[in-house]
Amino acid sequence: MKIDSASATGHPEGRVPAGAAISSAFRHGLNLRQVLLALVIATFTYRFIKRAIQNRVRPRRSHAAADEAFAAKNGCKPVRSVFPYKWPFALDLLYRQYQVNKTQRLLAFQTQFFDRLGSTIEFRLFGDIGFFTFNPKNIEAILSTNFEDYGLGSRSDALRAFLGEGIFTQDGAQWKHSREMLRRPFVKMHYQDLTGFGEHINDLITHLKSCSGIVDLQPFFFRFTLATTTALIFGQPIKDYASETQHAFARSFDHASLISATRIRLADFFWAYTPSKYTESCKTVKEYATGFVEQAMQSTDEDTSKPETKYAFIRDLYNEYKDPILVRDQLVNVLIAGRDTTAALLSWTFFLLVRHPPVLIRLRQEILAVVEEGTLNRGHIQKLRWLKCVLNESMVSVTIINLRG
Ligand code: HEM
Repeated sequence: MKIDSASATGHPEGRVPAGAAISSAFRHGLNLRQVLLALVIATFTYRFIKRAIQNRVRPRRSHAAADEAFAAKNGCKPVRSVFPYKWPFALDLLYRQYQVNKTQRLLAFQTQFFDRLGSTIEFRLFGDIGFFTFNPKNIEAILSTNFEDYGLGSRSDALRAFLGEGIFTQDGAQWKHSREMLRRPFVKMHYQDLTGFGEHINDLITHLKSCSGIVDLQPFFFRFTLATTTALIFGQPIKDYASETQHAFARSFDHASLISATRIRLADFFWAYTPSKYTESCKTVKEYATGFVEQAMQSTDEDTSKPETKYAFIRDLYNEYKDPILVRDQLVNVLIAGRDTTAALLSWTFFLLVRHPPVLIRLRQEILAVVEEGTLNRGHIQKLRWLKCVLNESMVSVTIINLRG
């Protein structure tokens, strides 16, 4: 597998040389408002160049024509709902999404449109057409029955500065290869006992006990899942309050995730939003992950067939890839996959539980009955049927990952 030289060096714009000059102008403190204004100007230039290239490379068929042919063949009807916007190129929508993202109200913001306009909505950004959907049939088609027809689009390039070449930035054969590569370490992880979690649960409880009044649980859950996920994949937990280096990693990881979310929304123009702090954060995350890869590669005398071996996850990946950069990138991909999702699920589940006391009481009774049997193991987890229902219900009630595209 080939790694993009830009991501290998940590330089995020290598894939879009045309945008590099503009991007570098934005790095020094321009805010999103200025970026959006500049984008309007850039849009004209970009669309002109893009169309010229498309016409040259594919003179007979534009994307739109291909879409129309597909629609005619399959009897598709136009989408009835379109996102309302006022500014050219729907930049007002983009700007509002950015604002609500900062105040962590993105889900509520998006839900109001679905409530009003239906389950599938057309979205025009910079003149290109996209769709938002939570219609189960569409989701089934995208993720399962017609999986091969869909790709990640600009998401891959928008995320590459942060995630490099990994399962979340790949499509097609590369993605399939990553799945194969990750399967074995994940299967092994499933056989690990649960003792490793004890320390982090105790830390979580200790920190919560030191609080008084109304407590915002979410930051605690994010700390907790950072520790558990890094323990699983790095072989060593990162506790963001443990040392300045770990704290810097945790801060950089959070910052890089936040900016990446905005870059994804900028679609083909992701490169225009590359604040210098973002570049630094991506670098810090990569350097930190590289440190673990190096440590794992040095500890060659350990038996990685045992699930509890410290660096088993990294060593398994290295045995497959023989390339420390690819291993590092996959680690960061898995870290973002496992950390934020689990923290979001925990946060929403507690949010819902305190609003449904009978469910909370029944869950407590079920857990107490199992705990009486002794130290918690995976067999016990299988018995926690009500817990499984509660988690499933939480995931159905609120989306844990609100965007996939
Ligand atoms: C409540 C917890 C979780 C939820 C709701 C969740 C949800 C998802 C979703 C929706 C995707 C597809 C993302 C996309 O391609 O756009 C995904 C992919 C993935 N998740 Fe999770 N996830 C959770 C926990 C975890 C954990 C704990 C790990 C690992 C430690 C993990 C590892 C992965 C990986 C490696 C992928 C990429 C798989 C692929 O593309 O085939 N996830 N997850």
